[in-house]
Amino acid sequence: MSQTSPTRTASSVPPAAQVTPAAQYHGDLLELLVEMRRALKARGESLPPTWPEEAEGELRAKRMLGWVLEPRGERRGLAVLAVRNGRGFGQIHFSGGPQELPGAMEMVRAVDTHRPPGMRRIDLAVSADPEETESAWGKLLDAPDPKLTFTVVHRRAMVRKLDPSLPPPAETLPERFRFVPALALGPALLASIDFPSFVGGPDEAMVAETPEDNERLLRGLLEGDLGAPLREASAAVVLEEESSEGPKGHLVGFSLCLEENPHSALLADIAVLPKYRKQGIGKAILARSLRGLVALGFTEARLWVTEANTGALKLYERAGFTTERLGRILRWTAPRAS
Ligand SMILES: CC(C)(COP(=O)(O)OP(=O)(O)OC[C@H]1O[C@@H](n2cnc3c(N)ncnc32)[C@H](O)[C@@H]1OP(=O)(O)O)[C@@H](O)C(=O)NCCC(=O)NCCS
Repeated sequence: MSQTSPTRTASSVPPAAQVTPAAQYHGDLLELLVEMRRALKARGESLPPTWPEEAEGELRAKRMLGWVLEPRGERRGLAVLAVRNGRGFGQIHFSGGPQELPGAMEMVRAVDTHRPPGMRRIDLAVSADPEETESAWGKLLDAPDPKLTFTVVHRRAMVRKLDPSLPPPAETLPERFRFVPALALGPALLASIDFPSFVGGPDEAMVAETPEDNERLLRGLLEGDLGAPLREASAAVVLEEESSEGPKGHLVGFSLCLEENPHSALLADIAVLPKYRKQGIGKAILARSLRGLVALGFTEARLWVTEANTGALKLYERAGFTTERLGRILRWTAPRAS
């Protein structure tokens, strides 16, 4: 009896809580956020340099939610979730060996369990290092888990090398369509076609839930939230129509390219209104953007696309993009009221 009781006592004691809400975390949150940004940058993802300080302020003020994974005093992970108007966007990052993944799953459960009330949708990007941990975690997440209410959205990071001696050929637009620079149009006009282009499609959740949110998102991008917007590589297409006041242009599509670093640019957005698709306009916008990037001296273009967005995927593959890595987003959507 005396030999067995210590074991029994140990197993009946719940494991020390590994996941601490960020607002109650006594360690250095800023350092954690800086580490998270560095890990994401190393994966080719863009986060502005001011992000760690801003996020720390938001976490301390509880406008952003966060969870720190620290088993036995060793920092292993961080989940952050920015919440606004019933929408949550965030990142869950884990560093450690594949054998420590139960801790990472505890972080997922913490977000799932402590979802703020009144949410409509949460998107949580998953990342881990080293890479073998990320793929092992991905397999764990892909397996159905009745205890979790998240679903997994598969995403692809794609890249296309740009060679100044071999720019992609220019594509001509159908008659009466012409190019104009996209950045001069401003967020309201761009949102007026961005939102209807994405609604109902597989990447719908990546833009915004309302036209107003979409406009806010575009305004942030145009103001450089994720990198300086590139004028020469962000192209819009208008359809020329005769009106009583003379020729008038209707915006039908555009692209938005941002500088990630002096070598690499991000195709942050490309959209063509449904009515004008399948005429080669998307292909022409993409070619124009890539040629603009070559002219600006960039040596690679990158983008993210959802696996299910097969049309966009085909467009990118035909333009020479290849898959660099696969990524996952954990998505929770409020059940519809019946
Ligand atoms: C992705 C998107 C920009 C493509 O725009 P698009 O103008 O339809 O693109 P294109 O016309 O150049 O090419 C698309 C298809 O039309 C076909 N096409 C091109 N010219 C054509 C023509 N003259 N007649 C018939 N089909 C034609 C292409 O072959 C291609 O079809 P396929 O790849 O199935 O063979 C558009 O579908 C969109 O806005 N989607 C929603 C937003 C989105 O998801 N963006 C990507 C986010 S990552």
